[in-house]
Amino acid sequence: MELAIRTEHLTKIFGRRLIAVNDLNLEVPAGSIFGLLGPNGAGKTTTLRLLLGLQRPTAGRAEVFGRPCGVNSVSVRRLIGYLPTNPKLPGHLRPVEYLDLLGQLYGLPAEVRRPRLASLLRAVGLLGATGQRIRTFSTGMITRLGIAASLVGDPPLSSRPRGWILRLAASPWT
Ligand SMILES: Nc1ncnc2c1ncn2[C@@H]1O[C@H](COP(=O)(O)OP(=O)(O)OP(=O)(O)O)[C@@H](O)[C@H]1O
Ligand SMILES: [Mg+2]
Repeated sequence: MELAIRTEHLTKIFGRRLIAVNDLNLEVPAGSIFGLLGPNGAGKTTTLRLLLGLQRPTAGRAEVFGRPCGVNSVSVRRLIGYLPTNPKLPGHLRPVEYLDLLGQLYGLPAEVRRPRLASLLRAVGLLGATGQRIRTFSTGMITRLGIAASLVGDPPLSSRPRGWILRLAASPWT
């Protein structure tokens, strides 16, 4: 069974005594939908940041599709679509400029980027806002753009399942 996520004794302690993630052993099969639930401060975001290599574990290890997570694991980050709770997006750019920049960072050629950006903006219901700078966006529009941004690289591990975006595109309110 291919695993999208595997953690072994994953532990993060902030300072000397704040145990944010406590000996987490997790196996998430590829292709599954998995929810990480817990009260505020339970360590969900810290776990995701450890997977992304944005923080170093105090102990234990994590793998994404068999590749070790670490601060230098660019190839692992490429596999993950991550949407933070309050994404900070560059206000001076327009949505297409921002998504295209991300596509370039993913190394996607222009002929792949252009149709993908158009379909993502259509899917999240932002085609009518392509002329606006991001700084003029409402909170909900930022969230929509953040969802599109997290999917630009077509990552196999995403905080939004890929089928979901297609359902959104087909829903009557977009
Ligand atoms: N950079 C940091 N430095 C010190 N403590 C931190 C840091 N990041 C998180 N923590 C602490 O680690 C614990 C876990 O926080 P985390 O943000 O992972 O929780 P969460 O499950 O995502 O919570 P929420 O539901 O509120 O988003 C909390 O006690 C938090 O205060
Ligand atoms: Mg959180």
